[in-house]
Amino acid sequence: MASLNDIRATFLDYFRRQGHEVVPSSPLVPRNDPTLMFVNSGMVQFKNLFTGVERRDYVRATTAQKCVRAGGKHNDLDNVGYTARHHTFFEMMGNFSFGDYFKTDAIPFAWELITKDFGIPKDRLYTTVYHTDDEAFEIWKKVGVPESRIIRIDTDDNFWRMGPTGPCGPCTEIFYDHGDHIWGGPPGSPEEDGDRFIEIWNIVFMQNEQFEDGSMVDLEMQSIDTGMGLERIGALLQGSNDNYDTDTMRGLIEASAHATSVDPDGDQNVHHRVIADHLRSTSFLIADGVMPSNEGRGYVLRRIMRRAMRHAHLLGAKDPVMHKLVPALVSNMGQAYAELGQAQALIEETLLLEETRFKQTLERGLRLLDEELAGLPEDSDLPGAAAFKLYDTYGFPLDLTQDALREKGRGVDTDGFDAAMEEQKAKARAAWSGSGETADASVWFDIAEDKGVTEFLGYDTEVAEGQIVALVSDGAQVDSANGAVQIVLNQTPFYAESGGQVGDSGTLKTETGQATITDTKKVAGVFIHIAEVTEGEISAGQGAELVVDHERRSAIRANHSATHLLHEALRGELGEHVAQRGSLNAQDRLRFDFSHSKALSVEELGRVETEVNAYIRQNSPVETRIMTPDDAREIGAQALFGEKYGDEVRVVSMGRAATGKGLDKETYSIELCGGTHVRQTGDIGLCVVLGDSASSAGVRRIEALTGEAARAHLRAQDQRLAEAALALKAQGAEVPERVKALLEERKALQNEVAQLRRELASGGAGGGAEAKDVNGTKFLAQVLQGVSGKDLPGIIDDHKARLGSGVVLLIADTGGKAAVAAGVTGDLTDKISAADIVRAVTPQLGGKGGGGRSDMAQGGGASAENAEAAIAAAEALLGG
Ligand code: ALA
Repeated sequence: MASLNDIRATFLDYFRRQGHEVVPSSPLVPRNDPTLMFVNSGMVQFKNLFTGVERRDYVRATTAQKCVRAGGKHNDLDNVGYTARHHTFFEMMGNFSFGDYFKTDAIPFAWELITKDFGIPKDRLYTTVYHTDDEAFEIWKKVGVPESRIIRIDTDDNFWRMGPTGPCGPCTEIFYDHGDHIWGGPPGSPEEDGDRFIEIWNIVFMQNEQFEDGSMVDLEMQSIDTGMGLERIGALLQGSNDNYDTDTMRGLIEASAHATSVDPDGDQNVHHRVIADHLRSTSFLIADGVMPSNEGRGYVLRRIMRRAMRHAHLLGAKDPVMHKLVPALVSNMGQAYAELGQAQALIEETLLLEETRFKQTLERGLRLLDEELAGLPEDSDLPGAAAFKLYDTYGFPLDLTQDALREKGRGVDTDGFDAAMEEQKAKARAAWSGSGETADASVWFDIAEDKGVTEFLGYDTEVAEGQIVALVSDGAQVDSANGAVQIVLNQTPFYAESGGQVGDSGTLKTETGQATITDTKKVAGVFIHIAEVTEGEISAGQGAELVVDHERRSAIRANHSATHLLHEALRGELGEHVAQRGSLNAQDRLRFDFSHSKALSVEELGRVETEVNAYIRQNSPVETRIMTPDDAREIGAQALFGEKYGDEVRVVSMGRAATGKGLDKETYSIELCGGTHVRQTGDIGLCVVLGDSASSAGVRRIEALTGEAARAHLRAQDQRLAEAALALKAQGAEVPERVKALLEERKALQNEVAQLRRELASGGAGGGAEAKDVNGTKFLAQVLQGVSGKDLPGIIDDHKARLGSGVVLLIADTGGKAAVAAGVTGDLTDKISAADIVRAVTPQLGGKGGGGRSDMAQGGGASAENAEAAIAAAEALLGG
């Protein structure tokens, strides 16, 4: 029996032989479509090839594409488990022609593969064509399908659309008749919904494009897009019409049966089916970077996970089950999808955490649900308020409650649920405005309420499409804009400023205009792109191509990751008291404030820098996880002191250390962080610590550079060193010694100069100016040139020593100004004060006051011109 893996290989190999490029499945989160939640068919990754916007070096391709249909236009979530063919996750195999072959080749390819390679008997096959498509009708006839089995369909069943916009076209489908033991009729008949005639292949003739305004145009090229569900064809080839009987699904059902010890085929079978299906969608979504959250895609993931967990609970599982089934999935599908094996640990951990957490409220919530139902009249719907309480307090997504009620044949008053949700949002808004935050925040709350919050895609991509949900100019919403405007999109790769990391900048393009985005901020979960429309105009409702400035973002990533390493290195060097007090992760530098009371020594800074760079060179992967704040603290994550965290946090880990922390006890740095980081520590390149300074009491601040900025800084330093070496006529390495020697030499010379000046002033050693007797006191007065005020006390001391007893007055002409100093020998200070002399003298020199002690005082004046009068004033004071 051919396994699903064999069938996938046969399909791809058939089209490879027909000249098709075998292209890997794209990730489940679409990068190139603003309207799709998940990739829901094989053609999504080729959307722009059909419209001619993009070209590649092949015109024929074949894929096995991962698809999730659990939200948006194609949503199968509610039916999973209860029907034979609904899945949230499935694989779509397809062949594609981009303006190359069209109907005349596509139909024979399909016919040959299914009737020859797959060996499906021709007399079991039926086909449908769009009612006006005579050409397709004729081709089917030509390959040998009897006219009676070619059915014209005039409904949208034979006109395929990816979503509300995008390439589309009429299609032709192939049906398989499972036989008259099963109820049902051929397509187009009143019994078509039965299980007997099953569609196995859809071939779309891509020739139109649908636009936002409802218009549809012919595409320039005629292309082919086909889709064959692997599980369906697999069931058929394995002799069943139930997809859950295929080897892959059966393996997962048995794994579920084993983990819960409940018969895989008994009346509990539906639970195993839900679990098997949901295990696949959740695992593949996690492998593609989606994390459970309360918004957007993360919330769809959470809804699927919790739905599966309720079914595990219904099977009587006491402990978490889902994570135990991952190995079975990886062993079956890991070969075709390597990402599954690579993310196995993350998938298991994420499932385990979610299930552990949800278990804490699941039972109480289910009890509450039973109580509510018991108090209600038979068959009436659950009131919206009760469903909301289950959602808000017990973490029951609405569809989980609906799923639980479905078994009891009841529904939920969804209007009441929406009203309760609205009321809660209004309260949140009131609390916000009460907090005195930006007065104009109400426009963002309006947008959040009407359009929902923005989904951030920028952890995984820097380029994505988004839909413009609002434009704001001067605090009010506008329909279109040119010039300065604030743009809100349903999803964006642009990081909004938070947690110390600056907002992204980049460009935005729509069909009618272009804008430069200079910054991104967020309020109430709404990402605000601060922009300038530089070409044409842009309008609300348009799809937009968003491109983050890659170089800038890469530099920001490097700085942010380096900050984490720096934080850990500082804790290692200085002690556990080091806690983050603030940070800035900008494009050109990083700044980290932390609690520590002393300046860091050069050696400490050096060791910290050495350690950070050692972890950079280690080039280990940077990993992110979502967990509860408590779990995060338990594994040693650094959190911001006093910060309020929600019920779940993003945890960023990096570096391998022999004695580290984390579950494995080998992780170097673990921090709660919502920022964007490098993939591997080596991407930081280099980190240079610029220095440390005081930020506030007990808080130090370190600034550092990474990557190119660090290299440029070192180069500039080196350049300066080279210039200094050149000036010194020395080698670079000799510069410090040479500068030290020069400084010492300079000091010695300065001393010598001062000594010589003093000697010069006092007329050379032992001689010079004469003292005269004034009222019985030896008084020596001298006017000096070419000395500064600083030199005067030394000269006074020399004179005092020579006089033995007496008074000295020096007036220096310091080039446009005058400096004065007076000295009195110790035996006379009782009678005469040097300060008094200076005070008597300075007015004559155009100055005022002066000061000092009784034995030595100094002052100054505007000019030494009246030195004689000044000396006379001093003599007068001495009584002369
Ligand atoms: N895109 C087509 C489908 O999904 C083939 O059915």
